[in-house]
Amino acid sequence: MSSDQGSTDGAIVAVALVVVFVKIGIVICVCRHFSKRRSSVQAQSQPFNDDSRFIPLAMVKFLDDMEREKPIRFTAQQLRLATDNFTYVLGSGGFGTVYKGIFSNGTTAAVKVLYGNSDKKIEEQFMAEVSTMGRTHHYNLVKLYGFCFESSLRALVYEFMVNGSLDYHLFKANKRDMIGFEKLHEIALGTGRGIAYLHEECPQRIVHYDIKPGNILLDSNFCAKVADFGLAKLCNRDNTHITMTGGRGTPGYAAPELWMPLPVTHKCDVYSYGMLLFEIIGRRRNMDVTLGDSQQWFPIWAWGKYEKKQLTDLMIVCGIEEKDQEAAERMVKVALCCVQYRPETRPVMSIVVKMLEGALEIPEPLNPFSHLFSGVDETGNSLARIAWNVGGSDWSSSDVVTKSTVVTGTPIMKRHEITMASM
Ligand SMILES: Nc1ncnc2c1ncn2[C@@H]1O[C@H](COP(=O)(O)OP(=O)(O)OP(=O)(O)O)[C@@H](O)[C@H]1O
Ligand SMILES: [Mg+2]
Repeated sequence: MSSDQGSTDGAIVAVALVVVFVKIGIVICVCRHFSKRRSSVQAQSQPFNDDSRFIPLAMVKFLDDMEREKPIRFTAQQLRLATDNFTYVLGSGGFGTVYKGIFSNGTTAAVKVLYGNSDKKIEEQFMAEVSTMGRTHHYNLVKLYGFCFESSLRALVYEFMVNGSLDYHLFKANKRDMIGFEKLHEIALGTGRGIAYLHEECPQRIVHYDIKPGNILLDSNFCAKVADFGLAKLCNRDNTHITMTGGRGTPGYAAPELWMPLPVTHKCDVYSYGMLLFEIIGRRRNMDVTLGDSQQWFPIWAWGKYEKKQLTDLMIVCGIEEKDQEAAERMVKVALCCVQYRPETRPVMSIVVKMLEGALEIPEPLNPFSHLFSGVDETGNSLARIAWNVGGSDWSSSDVVTKSTVVTGTPIMKRHEITMASM
């Protein structure tokens, strides 16, 4: 190698080093500048981690996004401003009243003001629960942005779902602009996936306890998002949700073990999901006293049709087109599996999803309602069922109407609060 070439190489290395140092200098300056801007923005909103000062720009953005995965604490004043002093009510339920809010950065949110007061003693427990809820993310779950815990206000701030709740769409009087069956099937699947995530996948397993159409919210594409998970643990419910025996859940959707002295597991959500499936299939409330007696309680009517292999009748009554009938039949069978009286005979949610998708064969469901008749034997056969058939004829839905008050309210049904479902 010549001495000329050696000095040329040396010069290249020197220039390269200078370029590298200049670049590092620029990155540090940009980061410091950005970090200062960020600190001033944060001073107006919420606290962030100071360690981010020397992290490059792209990384800062990434960390910001990460931070937002955690719930944000809002002040009562911030929520008052965002909701225009709690002016626009979206609805109310067993935990509180929900208001529409818009934050200064343009984000629209649903602010749920919880009933009851903010006892300091429960602050830590509140934070723990909210923290879990705010870190539970899935495409089919409503996102919790944050919360407020002040003596004057206890609230949860959720992402805003522009198409409201499923009950509004399912049960509206004008059936013409009803969501089509295909979309409803997607909603059922999405809901199932959301619940399966809560039960089987998320780091801290969550039982919802209150699956019902009012807690399935729809985004701008009518994709299903399960709302209010984690709330049952956070709040004492008001008396619209407490059954006569002091259980949890909403009558008509609550599994038997919720109002009986039996162990409660995630299978109570499977039961409620089954009841929800029936309402999706029928596009009606499960209990509708305005209908003819045999159809008043849809799940038991559907079971009758299934058992007698007359699901075509169900398809006609529910207005399900031929192209959707295979999926609808799967839904009926899955619903019947989900509402089994005994929790252990109900499938877990991941299996429910696979069966709905058609990826798994659905076992023949047993009669889920045999316990509603005068007796149930150990195999799950209804003694009353047998008694009903005394006299020879088979068990038709019209027999149910004329021979019994089972559908409209035997003492057992009343005790089980079935007639109270959707009135
Ligand atoms: N994130 C949200 N985006 C848009 N609307 C919402 C949101 N959360 C709730 N709502 C509206 O507010 C209504 C009331 O909700 P809320 O959860 O208080 O009652 P619920 O679901 O009927 O009963 P529960 O107390 O058992 O959940 C809903 O039906 C829905 O229309
Ligand atoms: Mg709700």
